[in-house]
Amino acid sequence: MIVVASANGGVGIPQAMAILRAGGSALDAVEAAVRVVEDNPDDHTVGYGGYPNVLGEVELDASVMEGTTRRAGAVGALRGYRHPVSVARRVMEALPHVLVVGDGAARVAAEMGMVQEELLTEPARATWRAGLEGTLDPSAPIAEWLPRMGRLATDPEHVSGTVNVIAQDRDGHLAVAVSTSGAAWKFPGRLGDSPVIGAGNYADDRYGAAACTGWGELSIRAGTARQVVEGLRRGLAVEAACTAALQELAGLGDIRPADVLMHVVAVDRGGRHCAATTRRGWQYVHQTDAMDAPCTGSRLVVELTGSEPTEMDLAR
Ligand code: GLY
Repeated sequence: MIVVASANGGVGIPQAMAILRAGGSALDAVEAAVRVVEDNPDDHTVGYGGYPNVLGEVELDASVMEGTTRRAGAVGALRGYRHPVSVARRVMEALPHVLVVGDGAARVAAEMGMVQEELLTEPARATWRAGLEGTLDPSAPIAEWLPRMGRLATDPEHVSGTVNVIAQDRDGHLAVAVSTSGAAWKFPGRLGDSPVIGAGNYADDRYGAAACTGWGELSIRAGTARQVVEGLRRGLAVEAACTAALQELAGLGDIRPADVLMHVVAVDRGGRHCAATTRRGWQYVHQTDAMDAPCTGSRLVVELTGSEPTEMDLAR
């Protein structure tokens, strides 16, 4: 049994591991771990206390996927409810849909009995104000917003953050959950990769599971989480599958490889794991049932070369 998460997911790993040790499912474990992160007001990239969109409204995205059936559920641009991961699970289990956004997602949350609340905390509001004061007039037409939003959207302190949790349970089943408040100061209604199955997350018990944090527009375009699992299907080791999926981003013709900010976590069907990144200094956490506590480690750094690695490169 194993739980692997982005570094900010470490606070939820004890809950996830307790569920797995008690014989619970991987899906229950990843949902429980992510809910702890969504409750954390000090994490400004997920749930309560997350940074808002450009208008000062917190809009949350999340998804879950289980590897046994490849069932998935996701919500986007959910306002007023702090646990989008559980709403995503309800979409998966109760509706004949995968992705529900906006008012529809809020309706699911309300029907679940979730408490509606203001998610914008004072510290997040203060940072939003400091970042935007005098920068944007909310009533201005989009054409006037775009040049300014380009600068805001590349502010490295605020663009990157999301939680990923992957678990494998006693029966070998995999599940993945992803939750985020998305890019800080985003355009209202913007969805990143987190609620897009195949982009921000993917799980298939036959091969493995993967999830992303980073610049969501890029992983949507490249199908990054699915790329990792596809590498596993082709027989690559988990490190090589992560490397190949990140290298694929260097081929996006309008983005310099040096500008690609992407991180992946992955677990293969044998429980081997990898966390990789295009930038130095990023960490992740993992715990197996043989370990007393979660362990924080450095991610494998993948220097993007702009050329796709050959199968021989990846086998090295
Ligand atoms: N990776 C999270 C986002 O782009 O919204």
